[in-house]
Amino acid sequence: MQPPPRAPPALLPGLLLLWAAGHGRAQEVQAENVTVLEGGTAEITCHLHRYDGSIVVIQNPARQTLFFNGTRALKDERFELAEFSRRRLRLRLARARLDDEGGYFCQLYADDTHHQIATLTVLVPPEPPLVQAGALAVEGEELELTCLVPRARPPATLRWYRDRRELPGRSSHRQEGKVFWQRSVLRLRPERRDHGAVLTCEASHPALGRGQRRLTPFQLDVQYPPSARIHPSQSVLRQGDTLVLTCAVSGNPR
Ligand SMILES: *[C@@H]1O[C@H](CO)[C@@H](O)[C@H](O)[C@H]1NC(C)=O
Ligand SMILES: *[C@@H]1O[C@H](CO)[C@@H](O)[C@H](O)[C@H]1NC(C)=O
Repeated sequence: MQPPPRAPPALLPGLLLLWAAGHGRAQEVQAENVTVLEGGTAEITCHLHRYDGSIVVIQNPARQTLFFNGTRALKDERFELAEFSRRRLRLRLARARLDDEGGYFCQLYADDTHHQIATLTVLVPPEPPLVQAGALAVEGEELELTCLVPRARPPATLRWYRDRRELPGRSSHRQEGKVFWQRSVLRLRPERRDHGAVLTCEASHPALGRGQRRLTPFQLDVQYPPSARIHPSQSVLRQGDTLVLTCAVSGNPR
């Protein structure tokens, strides 16, 4: 491959790549990959290089023409041509859906046809997880807690915490169409001192901002049988003293 001709410093790295690929003399079109949240607005940009007025066509992943040189061809009002200039063409998609995913084609009908594909990826962030206990929590008996995220794409990562300490859960997921259902099961054997303790299930996901998580707390309500303790009012007794005995009973429920 020949070294590229001296490129003007303002060129984008992607365009330099194309240039280096040996097409330096001709007009070019270049597209970028785009990620959008479900329901959000995506913007797909096709960069034009040395545009000479040739026809530019944008097609959806099913290869249906969305815009023919700037004129709407497919009747889907969610798509809008935000810009068509000599430098770029910007396609805006509102209320993005999972079935909008795929490759969008930017075609330039010049002497030789160029096309570039922008890959649109639609992410589904998780809602706060649902946490449920398999049974009533009883002192000394095994308890199963389930943390569920019914819908996310890609799968979320689920973790259990008590205070800041992570507890080992068993995670599983399955794909339902394009989205993932997932859960994490935590097994524990609560003691009476765990009554009132708060466990948290945390979902992290690439579509949530950096460091952001969805959290659901779960407070343990541990059932335990009553026990009684008797406290005398004094330990040394003389004849004629009055003795008060206090009986303290604890149990859940009372
Ligand atoms: C866009 O995504 C496709 C498919 O994942 C990949 O092959 C291509 O290299 C990506 N292009 C850019 C410019 O990142
Ligand atoms: C395509 O559209 C561009 C921008 O509006 C225009 O400059 C160009 O002349 C059009 N090309 C043809 C062949 O109609």
